[in-house]
Amino acid sequence: MTRLAGKSALITGAARGIGRAFAEAYLREGAQVVIADIDMDRATETAADIGAFAVRMDVTDQASIDAGVAEAIGHVGQIDILINNAAIFNAAPIVEITREDYDRVFDINVSGALFTLQAVARHMIDRGIKGRIINMASQAGRRGEPLVAVYCASKAAIISLTQSAGQNLIKHGINVNAIAPGVVDGEHWDGVDAFFAKHEGKAPGQKKREVGAAVPYGRMGRAEDLTGMAVFLASDEAEYIVAQTYNVDGGNWMS
Ligand SMILES: NC(=O)c1ccc[n+]([C@@H]2O[C@H](COP(=O)([O-])OP(=O)(O)OC[C@H]3O[C@@H](n4cnc5c(N)ncnc54)[C@H](O)[C@@H]3O)[C@@H](O)[C@H]2O)c1
Repeated sequence: MTRLAGKSALITGAARGIGRAFAEAYLREGAQVVIADIDMDRATETAADIGAFAVRMDVTDQASIDAGVAEAIGHVGQIDILINNAAIFNAAPIVEITREDYDRVFDINVSGALFTLQAVARHMIDRGIKGRIINMASQAGRRGEPLVAVYCASKAAIISLTQSAGQNLIKHGINVNAIAPGVVDGEHWDGVDAFFAKHEGKAPGQKKREVGAAVPYGRMGRAEDLTGMAVFLASDEAEYIVAQTYNVDGGNWMS
């Protein structure tokens, strides 16, 4: 289990949830890991728990991205792998979407991912690192949903940015790809469930049961279901894979 031995990874939004599971999987594969999160208390606690480094980074703030990347390099020497994982969920009927909510989702999910990717790509190019960048998309980026317009659009943008960055950066030996999860249980989905409880009059937990039952595999995903793809895309075996988005969703979406 040392497919990432000698590599160093920066994972945004890894204080909890899917990012944390990625961090643990990369550590098991022999990589050094830096967790970059806006929630520094949680990032510090998680890093101490699993044997990673923690840096504070707000992906909406260029100075914070630059400082976080520099601090991460200070901890682990260089960044071979970036997972652009930080994101927020937001939902509202179309007539209730506010500009503030739209800007916040796009600032974190889209601009945050692009400018973190850019900062790390510059570092990789400067040092001649044949790096890997993995963006977190979603099944939400494959099609719209009636109450989730802004989040869906942000994840469609991630699929598109992955295609453009993937094609542009491969000439430097940097592979950019994405993972599109389906419905993954955890704190993120606790919030989604609460939203649907409010807007669709569902009992707490009901939306989770419904989406889980609708997955062809037969249940919601777990963060650990995604780690195999994240390790594979960062490994030598994925060298010829460029600008792709892989669905890891129990069969929810086929493309
Ligand atoms: N959970 C799901 O069902 C699901 C499905 C599809 C895609 N995804 C995507 O997978 C990724 C991880 O999802 P998750 O369920 O673990 O989410 P999560 O909400 O549990 O974790 C997100 C993390 O991002 C951090 N974060 C938020 N704003 C930030 C900012 N401005 N700067 C830096 N960090 C910030 C949070 O502190 C948190 O630690 C996200 O990109 C999400 O959109 C999740």
